[in-house]
Amino acid sequence: MPSRNKKGADKVLNFIINQQPVQTDEPRGMVLLDFIRDVKCLSGTKEACREGECGACTVLIGTPRPDGSVSYKACASCLLPIGDVDGCHVVTVEGLSADDTLTLVQQSIVDHSASQCGFCTPGIVLSLTAFCLTSPDYSYEDALNALDGNICRCTGYVSIRNAARALCDRLAKTERAPEKRVAALISAGVIPAYFNAIPQSLKRLPGPSSPPCGDAVLVAGGTDLFVQKPEALRESELCFLSQRRDLDYIREEKDGLHVGGAVTIEDFRLSAEVSRHFPSLKNDLLLHSSTVLRNKATITGNIVNASPIGDMSIILLALEARLAITAKDGSRRETPLSTFYKGYKQYDLACGEIIHEIFIPFLPRGARFNFEKVSNRVYLDIAAVNTALRLTVSPDGKITDLRLSAGGVAPFPLLIGGLDRFCGTAANAATGAEIAKTVTASVKPIDDIRGTAAYKKLLLNQLVIAHFAGPSAPGTSR
Ligand SMILES: Cc1cc2nc3c(=O)[nH]c(=O)nc-3n(C[C@H](O)[C@H](O)[C@H](O)COP(=O)(O)OP(=O)(O)OC[C@H]3O[C@@H](n4cnc5c(N)ncnc54)[C@H](O)[C@@H]3O)c2cc1C
Ligand code: FES
Ligand code: FES
Repeated sequence: MPSRNKKGADKVLNFIINQQPVQTDEPRGMVLLDFIRDVKCLSGTKEACREGECGACTVLIGTPRPDGSVSYKACASCLLPIGDVDGCHVVTVEGLSADDTLTLVQQSIVDHSASQCGFCTPGIVLSLTAFCLTSPDYSYEDALNALDGNICRCTGYVSIRNAARALCDRLAKTERAPEKRVAALISAGVIPAYFNAIPQSLKRLPGPSSPPCGDAVLVAGGTDLFVQKPEALRESELCFLSQRRDLDYIREEKDGLHVGGAVTIEDFRLSAEVSRHFPSLKNDLLLHSSTVLRNKATITGNIVNASPIGDMSIILLALEARLAITAKDGSRRETPLSTFYKGYKQYDLACGEIIHEIFIPFLPRGARFNFEKVSNRVYLDIAAVNTALRLTVSPDGKITDLRLSAGGVAPFPLLIGGLDRFCGTAANAATGAEIAKTVTASVKPIDDIRGTAAYKKLLLNQLVIAHFAGPSAPGTSR
């Protein structure tokens, strides 16, 4: 059974907030935002949407790595249960400037008038600080990507972008090596000196335990669960997938990629192995939620959440992914993702079963992959319709295999069947238009908040045509 706490507790949580060690028996399902503001009275972290949509509640979470260093990521504290930060370093805006002087990030915001009411500013400061800690080369592109989950309603994004650009310019000559990064950023005035001592301080904490889940609710990133039922989860028995370090791996083997069930979408997006075999995914996955969510959200959470428009599910269906599943008694089985979904929010997973690995076969010789998504806004938005295509073409330009998936047009992420008749036809725009017509005729979307059925059919038609046009089209190289 997972360890319990408060009211029948036999386990307290231990973590560090800024410089202060914290020991608490508050419920493991209490969200970090409430703990920071209501229990610790640190009001710099702002509360707004409580749904991961605005970034006002962004904090840094530092997780100890096996080599003893600490990996920092920006996360939305409104969707993050405190049980998930057991053994971690939590940094709020109060913890950035130990002596009340402005950090380099804050000074850049002041210099470029990038704050007005200031409500979004702590979140923006934390996201940019995370960028300083993680970007391989302090690039402006990375700085902008780091801000993709931070919404500002009054300043205007031009001055925020100017502040980010000036920050990148200031860091241009700063040491980049990961092992020297913390020291370099302390010297540059981005983070305070106490960060140096954090790895040792974390080592002294008891650290999280990872007992079998039993009947507890399995929390992966929590970015779906804590939007759906935060009150119920607060008092529930919880089990945290992030504590299964044995499931946090991406392995390249001879037949494909083996991805552990605890891998986050951002780690997958940035993985060298993924970039080597599926180079377009690095940009495609920028369209999934935002950095502060992808830093926690997992691939398996996206699959089991079973949203008809889940981006990862749509991508993995086209890539012919298989799931490896462990039951409560330790027995294991495998299933193709294509037969996993059975109906709206119904899937082939028994109570207590955990997806411990996703297998993604390499692209067959002559194959290309493409993902398309339409949503109301480019970032931080779920799709109206999304679709992915794996298209295999012979040297003489004929289609030999195609796997096309589509979201938003059925009760679950759909692998479109009945397309074999296009094998042997020329892989060109004319065939793409024919396939689009066939696919559009075969789906039965419903009217909902993301659009009418007719609109979704129109979108799907255009997106399938787009699979056969543009930089990813057959016969072109990316
Ligand atoms: C603001 C916002 C924007 C979003 N944007 C997008 C978007 O653009 N695209 C998109 O697809 N989704 C989006 N989402 C939805 C959600 O973030 C994703 O689906 C995410 O991948 C869920 O993963 P998680 O790890 O947070 O899941 P959790 O919330 O932790 O879990 C979801 C479900 O999966 C189960 N589960 C998790 N891992 C396993 C496992 N290994 N084995 C068995 N069961 C498991 C959990 O028990 C739970 O039932 C968004 C959400 C928010 C709040
Ligand atoms: S309060 Fe808006 S993302 Fe957390
Ligand atoms: S400064 Fe007011 S919301 Fe950004």
